Amino acid sequence: MMRVGLVGWRGMVGSVLMERMRAENDFALIDPVFFTTSNVGGRGPDIGKDLPALQDARSIDQLKATDAIISCQGGDYTHEIYPQLRAAGWKGYWIDAASALRMKDDAVIVLDPVNLDVIERALHQGGRDFIGGNCTVSLMLMALGGLFRHGLVEWMSAMTYQAASGAGANNMRELIRQMGAIHASVAAQLDDPASAILEIDRIVADTLRSTAFPADHFGVPLAGSLIPWIDKQLDNGQSREEWKGQAETNKILGREADPIAIDGLCVRIGAMRCHSQALTIKLTQDVPLDELNEIIGTANDWVKVVPNEREISMRELTPTAVTGKLHVPVGRLRKLNMGPTFLGAFTCGDQLLWGAAEPLRRTLRILLQ
Ligand code: HSE
Repeated sequence: MMRVGLVGWRGMVGSVLMERMRAENDFALIDPVFFTTSNVGGRGPDIGKDLPALQDARSIDQLKATDAIISCQGGDYTHEIYPQLRAAGWKGYWIDAASALRMKDDAVIVLDPVNLDVIERALHQGGRDFIGGNCTVSLMLMALGGLFRHGLVEWMSAMTYQAASGAGANNMRELIRQMGAIHASVAAQLDDPASAILEIDRIVADTLRSTAFPADHFGVPLAGSLIPWIDKQLDNGQSREEWKGQAETNKILGREADPIAIDGLCVRIGAMRCHSQALTIKLTQDVPLDELNEIIGTANDWVKVVPNEREISMRELTPTAVTGKLHVPVGRLRKLNMGPTFLGAFTCGDQLLWGAAEPLRRTLRILLQ
C-alpha cells in the first residue's frame, strides 16, 4: 500500500480534504501517516482505522519514509520543507494546495477533469510535483473547460466575485462579525416601522467608516461593501490574483508556449465560500448557442448548465445554492451585443471543494491506479 503523509489536515482546506477523503473511502486504499507541526506524538484523526502517533512535519527523516505527501500546510511550509526533502533524495509525489511550487517548470497544476492528459504525460515523464491550482482559475475551467477543449476561446475576460474563505478562516469569521456589527448599529431602528431609511443608511455608513468596525483581517469593511483588490500588487497594475488567470489557465492546459490571453478584475465580496465569475469570451468562430450549451455542459461530470432564465438563475446560480456542493453551475449564457463571436457567461463554485481540496484527493487516486 502506498504510504501517504498528510500535513496541514487540521486547517480549513485540510479539514475539507479530510471530509472528502472519508466520504470517498480514500483512506481504505492507502497507508496514511499524519504529520503535525504542533502536537508530535499526539493522536491522529478518526478515519476508521488504526493510526500511528502523529509525526513531526519538520522531520525530513520521517517525511522521507513516505511515498507521497499531501500538504495543506501553506506556502511557508512548502518553501521551508520541500527543498530539504528533495535535497535529501526523496523521490515521492508531492501534492500541495499551496501556490509555492505552482509555476515551477516540472510541476503540474492538477485539475484532472480538465487536464488528465497533462497529468498523465507528466507521470510518464517522471513528474513528481502535483500542485492544486488557484481556486478561481480551477472553478472557471471546471465551468468552461469544454470551450477550451474545442479550441473555441480566442481570449477571455473574467470579472470575479470572490468569497471570504479565499482569504482564510479568520476572514470568514470577520465577515460575519462585520455583518453583526452593522445590524447591531441599527437594530432599534429596524424594529421601528416608522423609522426613516435614510437615517438607517447614515448610521450604517458611519458604522462602516468607524475605526471601531471589526476589520483586523481584511483591513477594510467587506460586509456592506466590497474590496476591489485580491492578493499582492504587481508592477504592471494587475493584482497577483488577476495575473494567475492567464498564467495558471495556460499551464493547466499545457499551452504555455501558445497562451490564450485572459485578464480581468478580481473583487472580494461578502459571500462565505463560493467564488463567482462573470465571463466575456471571444470565440474563435461563430458557434450557435445550443451547440455551445452542449459543449460546455458535457465537458465533465460536475459542470451544470443553468438555462438563461431569471427564476432558475436566481435560484441555482448563487453562492447560497452552491455552497458545500461539488457541482459547478454555469449560466447567463448568451451572445453579447458586440457580435456573434462574443459569449457572456456567469459561473459559481465552492472554492474549498473544486477550488482547493478535490483536485488533491483525485490526484492521489490517479497515482493509485
Ligand atoms: N487567492 C484566492 C482568494 C484563494 O483569495 O480568493 C484561493 O486560491
